[in-house]
Amino acid sequence: MSRLDKTRHVYELLLEFYSRNFLYAGVNEELAYNLINLVWEHTFEADSVQTIKKIFKEAKKQCKNKVVEEDFLNAFHQNFLKVERFLDVGANRLDLLKTLGENYENIENLYAIDTKEKSEITLPNNKSFYFKVDNYSQNLPEELSNIDFINIQFVLHHFPDDSSIIRLLNWCYRILEKDGIVVLWEESFEKKWNKNLNFPVKVFTDENLTEKFYRLNTSEKFAFIQINDWLINFSNSHLQWTSNYKMWYDWVKIFASVGFQLEDYWNLGLRVNGKLKQGVHIIGMFKKK
Ligand SMILES: C[S@@+](CC[C@H](N)C(=O)[O-])C[C@H]1O[C@@H](n2cnc3c(N)ncnc32)[C@H](O)[C@@H]1O
Repeated sequence: MSRLDKTRHVYELLLEFYSRNFLYAGVNEELAYNLINLVWEHTFEADSVQTIKKIFKEAKKQCKNKVVEEDFLNAFHQNFLKVERFLDVGANRLDLLKTLGENYENIENLYAIDTKEKSEITLPNNKSFYFKVDNYSQNLPEELSNIDFINIQFVLHHFPDDSSIIRLLNWCYRILEKDGIVVLWEESFEKKWNKNLNFPVKVFTDENLTEKFYRLNTSEKFAFIQINDWLINFSNSHLQWTSNYKMWYDWVKIFASVGFQLEDYWNLGLRVNGKLKQGVHIIGMFKKK
């Protein structure tokens, strides 16, 4: 893992990001201070996990559940209505497969791949298939074909190297229908923040916080993203922390190298929406060239 550029600017922005969201959710701001101070001193240290869990537990207790954003999946509702075969890459606890299986009768088959053992969650019978794969994308299920929609949500930055990402994307290209789509969700940023956000569901992007984030230098931005992503995911103990985070332009370049073209993308920036945990998200929709 590269050395984190832990500057005062990164610390202050993390503090502001968490305290604004905690306050919005009705949670005592002091908990945000305790959380960021702890994580600042002990990022990635397993010993701090129990204390972090305790802080989040207390925050959840105080939380007035004032989350204001609609479910982001609604942004793809029209696409889901046309899907017959869906694949979730890095499906983790299979939450997405379950939701889609329950809400979209038109989806005939739901496929999931992940490096972890299959979750115990009950999936719609006879139409869901789980494949445990290795970290390097060397045993991907070659029998899949004619997929209409591939979702890759907060997964690729956990891959060990770019060759494994490219192997996965080449496979996605082979199994995707001619006019199918791939949706990539990443913790990422652009050179400049493009404020024109036309995401189909309303997003509570905070201009002031996002501008402060964009004033950080590149290595500070990566430090902010790494510390924040660890705070979001520290309880997923199976995750490997390879820190393969990239600028958005580099993701688009990797996708283009295997034949995918960016159709549309949305840079959500830093949001104040009352969620106790959230990332710095860019979502992109790709099609075959
Ligand atoms: C941060 S979680 C995101 C889970 C889910 N997509 C979501 O958005 O809630 C990342 C998931 O990617 C999986 N993963 C990591 N490396 C992978 C790889 N090389 N191939 C497939 N899945 C991988 C992890 O096991 C984990 O379940």
